[in-house]
Amino acid sequence: MENQREVPVIRSGLHVLKHKDMDVAMVQLDLTTGKIEYVLEIYLPDELPVGVGREGSNIAWWWASRAIPDSRRGIQQVLHYLDEETSLSLMMSAYGLSLTDHYWMQPIGEELYWKDLNFYENDFSDDLGNLLTDSGRIDRDAHISKFSPSSSVNGEMKKKWVIMNDARYLLKVNTDHYGQQSVNELIACRMHERLGWENHVAYQPGTIVVEGQEYPCSLNPLFTSEDHEFVSAYQLIRDYKVPNTVSNYEAVIRRACYYGMGEEEVRRQLEYTIMTDFILSNTDRHFNNFGFLYHTKKHRLTVMAPVFDTGNALFYNKEIVPSGLNLLEITVSSFCKREVDMLRYVKHADGIRTELLEDFPEEAEGMLKEYTDMPAKRAEVISRTIRQKLEYLRRFQQGKKIWKREKYW
Ligand SMILES: Nc1ncnc2c1ncn2[C@@H]1O[C@H](COP(=O)(O)OP(=O)(O)O)[C@@H](O)[C@H]1O
Ligand SMILES: [Mg+2]
Repeated sequence: MENQREVPVIRSGLHVLKHKDMDVAMVQLDLTTGKIEYVLEIYLPDELPVGVGREGSNIAWWWASRAIPDSRRGIQQVLHYLDEETSLSLMMSAYGLSLTDHYWMQPIGEELYWKDLNFYENDFSDDLGNLLTDSGRIDRDAHISKFSPSSSVNGEMKKKWVIMNDARYLLKVNTDHYGQQSVNELIACRMHERLGWENHVAYQPGTIVVEGQEYPCSLNPLFTSEDHEFVSAYQLIRDYKVPNTVSNYEAVIRRACYYGMGEEEVRRQLEYTIMTDFILSNTDRHFNNFGFLYHTKKHRLTVMAPVFDTGNALFYNKEIVPSGLNLLEITVSSFCKREVDMLRYVKHADGIRTELLEDFPEEAEGMLKEYTDMPAKRAEVISRTIRQKLEYLRRFQQGKKIWKREKYW
């Protein structure tokens, strides 16, 4: 009798949203699409993810934001191949577990435990990751395991989680644009090392064979852990009505402080990020590309997440690389539309010592030549933009308002 009662309940898509082993809320999932339809009850409001609101009104958005975006190249073919309706239904193949936070979904009627399932401690198969990156060995006739955190990591670039020497790494690869995006990560990493900025992700170079051809890739060690979850800046302001008089920049700082961060630490890293992104002409410091680490037990943000994702930089997708004053007209997806305007937020222009980057443009050029097969001339032209940007940054540090037209500096 009991079993008979359970079956329709499972089919109904009722799930408990879990935070590790805590029951946070009861939600209704559409089992075909994997989307959250509505929240039935919230048991532990303090355990809800940051940004979903006390009533959980943004919960469906938050859940969807953890999955692979529809815009990632090749995702539709993978879903079709695996007979999955959406990337959210694919994510449910591993109960929605990830390596960025501690949330998951337990179907009603099942009794499962964090320690047996979570990907921080338990190994996972390479199958899904290989499929998502067209790499590695995939026996297409055999059963393909979908139990992998590669289904719950967002972003446009092709990527997979891999285990090497018992540690978890995110492997990112792009097969167009000379594979430059992953090499940009390495270049950014070198810049942070030279500047002595420790809170950055230590990307490592690698190669990967995609459809029979070798490409550069980057490997980045996990910065989350069983204690710390990643909370993006976007999550922080998602349920916050930014007052008209307050910029999104200040709103992020305000919210970060509300959740436990010290203001100076946040300002220091944001200003550092703005200036170093400027040097590398990173166009993509959107609100999911920086964030904070939330301590699960302390219930607050404790540190900023290390600087990561500087892939969309150095004109990787531009046939013609700009120079001179055109370098001050770059449009970006971040706090401002024009890159140079972001510098207006920087209060401590001396936050980086440009003299430590004296021969960095040459080093970056060498890395582009070593790891990509782009024409040498292109690597040189790109390297020159770094030198010019450093020069502009120095002028800014001397007090020039370089966002104005040159004659008004
Ligand atoms: N080392 C890491 N540890 C934990 N989570 C990570 C790590 N690197 C990236 N992430 C998560 O994965 C997401 C996508 O990674 P990202 O490098 O931004 O890829 P993309 O270049 O495709 O945007 C990030 O927004 C973050 O949530
Ligand atoms: Mg990103």
